[in-house]
Amino acid sequence: MNKQLLFVKRPIGDADATTWELASNPIPEIEEGQLLIKQHYVSLDPAMRGWMNNSKSYIAPMEIGSVMRAGSVGEVIASKNPDFQVGQYVAGIGGVQQYAVTDGQGYYPVDPKMAPLPTYIGTLGMTGMTAYFGITEVGKIKEGDVVLVSGAAGAVGSIVGQVAKIKGCTVVGIAGGADKCKYVVEELGFDTCIDYKNENVATKLKEYCPKGIDVYFDNVGGDILDIALTRLRRHARIVICGAISQYNNKTAIKGPSNYLSLLVNRASMQGMVVFDYADRYKEGALQLGTWMAEGKLKSREAIYEGIENFPETYNRLFTGDKKGKLVLKVIE
Ligand SMILES: NC(=O)c1ccc[n+]([C@@H]2O[C@H](COP(=O)([O-])OP(=O)(O)OC[C@H]3O[C@@H](n4cnc5c(N)ncnc54)[C@H](OP(=O)(O)O)[C@@H]3O)[C@@H](O)[C@H]2O)c1
Repeated sequence: MNKQLLFVKRPIGDADATTWELASNPIPEIEEGQLLIKQHYVSLDPAMRGWMNNSKSYIAPMEIGSVMRAGSVGEVIASKNPDFQVGQYVAGIGGVQQYAVTDGQGYYPVDPKMAPLPTYIGTLGMTGMTAYFGITEVGKIKEGDVVLVSGAAGAVGSIVGQVAKIKGCTVVGIAGGADKCKYVVEELGFDTCIDYKNENVATKLKEYCPKGIDVYFDNVGGDILDIALTRLRRHARIVICGAISQYNNKTAIKGPSNYLSLLVNRASMQGMVVFDYADRYKEGALQLGTWMAEGKLKSREAIYEGIENFPETYNRLFTGDKKGKLVLKVIE
């Protein structure tokens, strides 16, 4: 049988246990051109909250009754597709279920001997690609830049800051809680970190970046984005990667009021969607993998177990109760 998590109710505000239902269905037979994947791990992403809304976005909204959309990694256990062999490991968008049937579109092979499987949906997957292309191509970092990163102890932010350090930047993180800030500085090597839950972000930012910031990599939006706007240097770049502080809003999201700082500082603010770099993922993964092998880049996954524990695990994205990339193991 295939345990699946079905998306059954569009949430207003926070998603909760009523948003999903666990189902158990027979594992389907594959047809010509298809393959069957035993999915070991699924990826939990803040973007999931946006996919639940019935509104226009960079990807179609999820249909009610569908398997919850998610990145996944697993083993091919049957194949009638010449591009995939039984025993091969692959990553793709398999959804929150134990077995996925697919025609292989969007799937690519991964090697568990090179890195643990969860890393392929974290640093060597979509998360790492977001961080790498976001900070290098959109943030256009160069040596000597002062870079500010929110969500600094999270999946994307932790990689962004480390890449910026490798490239010779001064890096300031923003994260929730003293423990996370300690992790960001002592283990990830950021220069400093602001605990937005217990410190005054504006005051600390002035102290840590007396001459202002060249790049702000924004994962959270809201008040922190507005504060960052007040500290821009001339020709600064703001990368709009996400706005997790706004995803569960029941009313309109809060936009920045300090945007005229862009004008004064001849600065720019640009949105990015990782899928636009799909044809360069290999290049990104090769670079990040090389840095990992050289000991220059740390990858951390917070792995939880049990498909039935999806709702409470998902919630950790919003409470912040985890460090690094959030992953759920859905089958032995
Ligand atoms: N544009 C793209 O293509 C793309 C691709 C992937 C991800 N993203 C975006 O990148 C961002 C980070 O994603 P991720 O996968 O790396 O998630 P993550 O950072 O691993 O997890 C989310 C983190 O956000 C923080 N957070 C939660 N609520 C917050 C709030 N109200 N204010 C400030 N921080 C809050 C929490 O950390 P604390 O404990 O520090 O609060 C939590 O750990 C998200 O906005 C996501 O949507 C965009």
